Order: sequence, then structure tokens, then C-alpha cells
Amino acid sequence: MLVLGIESSCDETAAAVVETDAIVGRAGRVLSDVVHSQVAVHAPFGGVVPELASRDHMRNIRPVVAAALDRAGVPLEQLDGIGVTCRPGLSGALMVGVQMAAGLGWAANKRVVGVDHLVGHLLAAFCQYPDVGCPAPPEYPFVALIASGGHTALYRVDAPFPEQIVELGATRDDAAGEAYDKTAKLLGLGYPGGPIIDRLAAEGDGDGVELSRPMASRDSLEFSFSGLKTNVARWVETNGLPGNDRVLRDLCAAFQRRVVDALVSKAIRATRRQGLRTLVLGGGVAANRALRAQASAAGERHGLRVVVPAFKCCTDNAAMIAYAGSQRLGAGEDDTGRLAISPRTVLPRMTRKGKGPRREA
Ligand code: KG4
Ligand code: ZN
Repeated sequence: MLVLGIESSCDETAAAVVETDAIVGRAGRVLSDVVHSQVAVHAPFGGVVPELASRDHMRNIRPVVAAALDRAGVPLEQLDGIGVTCRPGLSGALMVGVQMAAGLGWAANKRVVGVDHLVGHLLAAFCQYPDVGCPAPPEYPFVALIASGGHTALYRVDAPFPEQIVELGATRDDAAGEAYDKTAKLLGLGYPGGPIIDRLAAEGDGDGVELSRPMASRDSLEFSFSGLKTNVARWVETNGLPGNDRVLRDLCAAFQRRVVDALVSKAIRATRRQGLRTLVLGGGVAANRALRAQASAAGERHGLRVVVPAFKCCTDNAAMIAYAGSQRLGAGEDDTGRLAISPRTVLPRMTRKGKGPRREA
């Protein structure tokens, strides 16, 4: 099955063609993967400006989709369907990708299915690239940690469909990537903050600076990162803004250690509590080298398989959307004529007592 994926939920305009054999659990072969990043557009503002994002998607969606089909060597007529991110995300941004998918589907008479961006991240580990090493795909069921700029949560994934995915715990305030971005802004480091802090932290000593631990309750599967960011702000108030020196690297290392410790310990706890043996990482923060290394080491200690997708499949891309779309198309689904966008995900949450999923109203 040949599927075109389109992604425009935030600040990346992306399109990809993925080939799958329509059997649940099998990997998808990425034939092309085109990402146009809007980082330069938003960097002067220190964060994503929704109106500018929509306009930039408008400018780039057509060449990006054309390049994806061209690089895959797959003409539109050969596709079996189109998968497009329809939630969650910025409404004006989502609309650009969804309209493109709907237009192409109409013109070429192809089925179109909407994809939840978070399901895309959850299934990114199934994407196999020809040019980079990729782990063997995980086996269902598994626990997944998604840590991105907009979301940070743990999920139990029984199958590649939204109805069979349950959120086990999420952040109460900032997402992990948001904490990285806000902290980097506070330290005058630029945007996006994750890769910058990742690089500086690798040269620092996490014991060099004392910061609070995010999330008080060790037992819960919820996260909290806003206190940590406030702690960095207090540290700067007291000690002044560090220059490009040892202290800056130590501060970044201390911040990163707190974030990574919280993510890894809760992800391992969730996997063990579910009685499962596989933990999958996803989302932009899963590109973090310390998180990848620490999660793999903790997995080994606890006898768990930790599946970390290729770097380029962690941050926003359309290959994961094409793959997630292929699973819905393979199940015979079709959203043609009733594609709706939403700023929110519809993935259900576990009830407080852990008794089973509850759907959001
Ligand atoms: O998944 P993603 O590309 O977009 C969203 O869906 O939000 O994630 C972007 C987030 C940003 O907050 C960025 O700072 C963070 O991922 N990020 C990282 C790294 N690379 C990207 N955070 C920590 N370390 C990294 N190496
Ligand atoms: Zn994302």
C-alpha cells in the first residue's frame, strides 16, 4: 500500500510517501520524507506565531507535496490513499494540510483519512528509513512516552488505532519541549531551545548547580515542569545571567538532568505497572541524546526493550503521519467529505482509579 502523508499542525510543512503491506504491526518503508521547517520565521519571536505559521504553510505546502511524490517516484495516480494530520494543532495551520489532502483526494479520486498527530508520534517507531539505522518495530501492546513541544504524556498502545490507545498520565502544566524552549529563552539561547540545551548540557556538570526536581509525587504518572522553569528563573535572579561559560553549561546540565530523570523514571514505572515489556519513545524531545541514552540504560536494568526511533522521525514529520494513515486505510476507513480539524486530541484517558479509558467530553 502506497500512502502520501501530509503534516502542517504546527511549524513544519511536511509530506512523505510510505509503503506498507497493510498488516498491523509491520514496519513502513519511507520512500520520501520532505520537511520544510519554519524555525527561521518564528525564531525572532521566541515561539510559534500562529498567523505566520498558516501563511508559511500556504506558501510551502504545494512544493513540499510535489517534492515528496517526485522523490518517491510515485505519481499521484499510484497512491492507495492520503493520510493528513487533522488534530491536535493550530487551526489555521491544520486547515492548510487538510485542504491540500482533500483537494488531491478529490482530483485523483483517492481515499483520505485524518490522522491524530499524537498517533503519528506514537507510531513513528514503525518507520524504516533507507538512509539511517532504524530499530526493528515494537510489538503491540507497548507503553509509549511522547515528549514534544505541545504534549508530554504516557500511553498504553494496544493497536495503531485511536480507540485502542489510552493515556496513562500527562503533564499538569508545561510540556517537556515547552520547558526546554522557555528555559532557553530565559537564558537568551535562541529557539528552539531543546537542541541548544542538549548540546550545552553535554559539556556541563549536572551537580554544578542545585535545582528542584519536577513533579513531587514519585508514585504518580503525571509530570510537571513549570516549577523547574521557575527555579531556573529564580537562579538567574539571584546569580545573574550566565555568560557563554562553564556555569551556563552546568545550569543546562542540571535542568536537563531533572527533565530526563522525570521522563525516564515515570516511563519505566508506567511500563512495569502495565505489565508490559516494551517502551517506545517519540516526539521532538526524544531526539535528546541524554534521554535516549538514559532510557535505554534504564530499560536494560529492568529487562525492558526500549525502542527509540531515528532522530528525524522524532521531531515533526509526515512519514509518521503517512504510516498512521496507512493503518486506517488498511482497515478500510475513509474520511472523504467529512474531514474535520480540531485543536485537541481525542485519545481517551485512563480514569483516576486506573479502571479503564474515559473519553473526553
Ligand atoms: O515533536 P516536535 O517536533 O513538535 C511538536 O509536536 O511539538 O517537538 C518540538 C520540541 C521543541 O520544544 C524542541 O525544543 C524539542 O522538541 N526538541 C528537543 C530536542 N530536539 C527538539 N528537546 C530536547 N533535546 C533535543 N535534542
Ligand atoms: Zn509533534
